Amino acid sequence: MPATRRTALRHNGDVDWDAWPVGPYLAENYRLLHPCDRGVIHHHSRFYRQFAPGGLTRTLELGAGPNLYPLMLAAGAGRRIDALEPSAANLAYLRSQLTYGPDDSWEPFYALCRALDPALPATLPEALGRVRVVRGDAGDLDEGRYDTASMNFVAESVTEDFAEFTSLCTAFARSVRPGGRLVAAFMERMPSYRIGAGPVWPACPVDESALRAVFAPHTVSLRVSRLAKDHTLPEYGDTGVLLLTAQRPCP
Ligand SMILES: C[S@@+](CC[C@H](N)C(=O)[O-])C[C@H]1O[C@@H](n2cnc3c(N)ncnc32)[C@H](O)[C@@H]1O
Repeated sequence: MPATRRTALRHNGDVDWDAWPVGPYLAENYRLLHPCDRGVIHHHSRFYRQFAPGGLTRTLELGAGPNLYPLMLAAGAGRRIDALEPSAANLAYLRSQLTYGPDDSWEPFYALCRALDPALPATLPEALGRVRVVRGDAGDLDEGRYDTASMNFVAESVTEDFAEFTSLCTAFARSVRPGGRLVAAFMERMPSYRIGAGPVWPACPVDESALRAVFAPHTVSLRVSRLAKDHTLPEYGDTGVLLLTAQRPCP
């Protein structure tokens, strides 16, 4: 018998995603524009500015959660943005933001997105008018459906199993048509985490070499960069944020 008992890995399906703590998650991460949000927004805005305004027919935000800024960023180039999300709590929040108007706390995020990309609509509600909220998860993705796909803090934050992390990233990559492009952000080396005083959510610590190993078989022009750890956020045990862009190969 080993001295320390190895606990079983927790998988994506072991968790009640419907119970995601939307209010505490927003309070900890998105009620203020943190330095790491600025870093992600600058990176992703550069990604979307390579396309003509309105030049993308259909784009994906995988595991959108209650985070509106990736949806804002896609609205310059994207004519239709699918926000795919499994959690009832997150779906309710997203639908309320689209129906009744976004919370005021999102305005500084939109001001930055629009300052970087003048192709964005004049107002945040107009930008969100391009979003369709869709119930589902990575397992529901069809291959080659999207012109671009975006994923932020999802594959590494929803399972402790590296093999499952790999499958989620693979489904994400394959959802894009040949020649289409991917953009993503990952917490670097983050172990399983709590939001506020709530339960522990499963995570899989990843670094740049793990991302390269997982995405290289499915992509070309793979680029990974990093943002320094953001000490204005709660201590999640991460060492920073990893940012990725890549392209699906043409046959
Ligand atoms: C840490 S949150 C990140 C939310 C958001 N993308 C953000 O930028 O803050 C992880 C999200 O992944 C969603 N999720 C969990 N399992 C998933 C799966 N198998 N496929 C897609 N999304 C999933 C959760 O419901 C949650 O919204």
